[in-house]
Amino acid sequence: MCGIIGYIGEKNPVDILINGLKSLEYRGYDSAGIALKNNDQIEVIKSIGKIVNLEEKIKNMEVIPSNLGIAHTRWATHGKPSEKNAHPHTIGKITLVHNGIIENAEELREKLKKAGVTFNSETDTEVVAALINKYYEKNPVEAIDKALKEVKGSYALGILFQGDNDLYAVRKDSPLIVGLGKEENFIASDIAAIIDYTNKYILLEEGEIAHITKDKVEVTKDGKVVEKQVHETDLERAAKDKNGYDHYMLKEIMEEPVVLEKTFKPYLEQLDKLPDLTKYEEIHIVACGSAMYAGMIGKTLLEEYANTKVEIDVASEYRYKNIIYDRKTLVILISQSGETADTIAAMRKAKEHNVETLAIVNVKTSTIARESDEKIFIEAGPEIAVATTKAYILQVGIMALLAYKTALEKGLVKEEHKVLEEAEKLPRLIKEVLDRREEYQKIAKEIYTSEDIFFIGRKIDYATSMEGSLKLKEVSYIHSEAYQAGELKHGTISLIEDGMPVFAIVTDETIKDKTVSNIEEVKSRGAKTIIISNETWQNQKLQVVVPKISPYFQPILIVPTLQLIAYETAKLRGCDIDKPKNLAKSVTVE
Ligand code: AGP
Repeated sequence: MCGIIGYIGEKNPVDILINGLKSLEYRGYDSAGIALKNNDQIEVIKSIGKIVNLEEKIKNMEVIPSNLGIAHTRWATHGKPSEKNAHPHTIGKITLVHNGIIENAEELREKLKKAGVTFNSETDTEVVAALINKYYEKNPVEAIDKALKEVKGSYALGILFQGDNDLYAVRKDSPLIVGLGKEENFIASDIAAIIDYTNKYILLEEGEIAHITKDKVEVTKDGKVVEKQVHETDLERAAKDKNGYDHYMLKEIMEEPVVLEKTFKPYLEQLDKLPDLTKYEEIHIVACGSAMYAGMIGKTLLEEYANTKVEIDVASEYRYKNIIYDRKTLVILISQSGETADTIAAMRKAKEHNVETLAIVNVKTSTIARESDEKIFIEAGPEIAVATTKAYILQVGIMALLAYKTALEKGLVKEEHKVLEEAEKLPRLIKEVLDRREEYQKIAKEIYTSEDIFFIGRKIDYATSMEGSLKLKEVSYIHSEAYQAGELKHGTISLIEDGMPVFAIVTDETIKDKTVSNIEEVKSRGAKTIIISNETWQNQKLQVVVPKISPYFQPILIVPTLQLIAYETAKLRGCDIDKPKNLAKSVTVE
């Protein structure tokens, strides 16, 4: 997603803005730009590709002295990646940067063209600049207010006005914060961009406009001043460093034992801090990507061990489907960022139908965290790598505890699962699994030149294989698919070629024999099988064996092996592991 940062204060903003953009790189982008203002002089510099290209450009020119500026990393939605389409955009007296999508941009563009406006880019952003310019006479806040009444869609905007030396910001659906410094203030898409300068910030809510000077921030909504709470982030500056690891992805995988212990602690001490799911007649789990695959594990555990029926769907489908809410329902939203547009829309759909919502979320100040009825925070800390790892593990962990608590309340807990004792052992067992990196490097060497890789499993192992497949493909760019092991022979097995890697996840004893025959099926067609399991296999060259543990937590020991295999494979292929091409950490547009 696009990234925004702005500065007003005593310093020259160039380094602050460029440093901020670099902290937003993980959001994914294809071009970048900066605007500097000195009274009525505005200088806009843009570049395509990485931020270093913009930095080079700025170094080789005499930029205007300034204490006010905005900057942007663009993830193209309207108009291809190009300097022309890069932000900031200037129309008339307005220069601005934008994150989001203006849904009625074309209609507005035509109207403005008829009124004589000349556009220079293909972007929806320029249309907003032209609209604000249309209403701007003397009062910037008024111009913003009037213009945005005509706009449909999502936006976070940083805006500069000719004839005014302050900074302005407004948001709807796309997150934006105002950072509070000493004799300086900031705007940013997230706190990571300004953590080097301040840990104090205020959250702009829907439709709120911020008028920012170096020593004052006034927030208004519909013309009325809004008193805002000042937050202090617990994000350590160190959290932005890799602490000696080559990549954030590896650092964050290695943090899994610690963050799992921190997340589980309050609930192992007092399980009834978790919500009671038995009071609902229907449970829906809604999420995107890895979060949805964590939900898949939750669904399997709730159905298998707590006899609880669960519907699950990806948020981009759920938000548009005709969902029948005809009984007492709980909608569980899983989201690391809490800003995923489709998941927000699914949450708001449930709330519009007066259906209770429970969020399992990492970012405590996010839209989903603030708007959901109930919330369970995972304590992953900042997750910088685009490919989620530690947050995913914690989402699965919380789903496992919810399933266990529900089974307990229904008197269905099987003694042999020893769930609470096993939960205490988990951090140590994950660490043991993580320490066996040479095994994963060996498997990565076996697969990194492949073009297609399959993951198969049944029941909970199928749910786990979905995340294994996504992790591999999103960081190594190898095409990969997860398949129900029993489904392969209904067509897809025709794709199995000699030497094609097929990962088989086998931990569920109730169905193991069936999966074994599926492994034989692909083996007999030449597949190179890699078995990831909780027992040792005879005559199986490529395999990883993790400790056998309660089925509630078995995926939490399997997935780290798949995460590290994906990591090592991507490393061998020289991929941009923390910022895979085309991907964004938080998909704040639909
Ligand atoms: C996973 O590695 C991806 N980065 C992606 O699938 C992600 O899980 C998905 O976009 C959901 O994000 P969220 O958890 O922040 O809502």
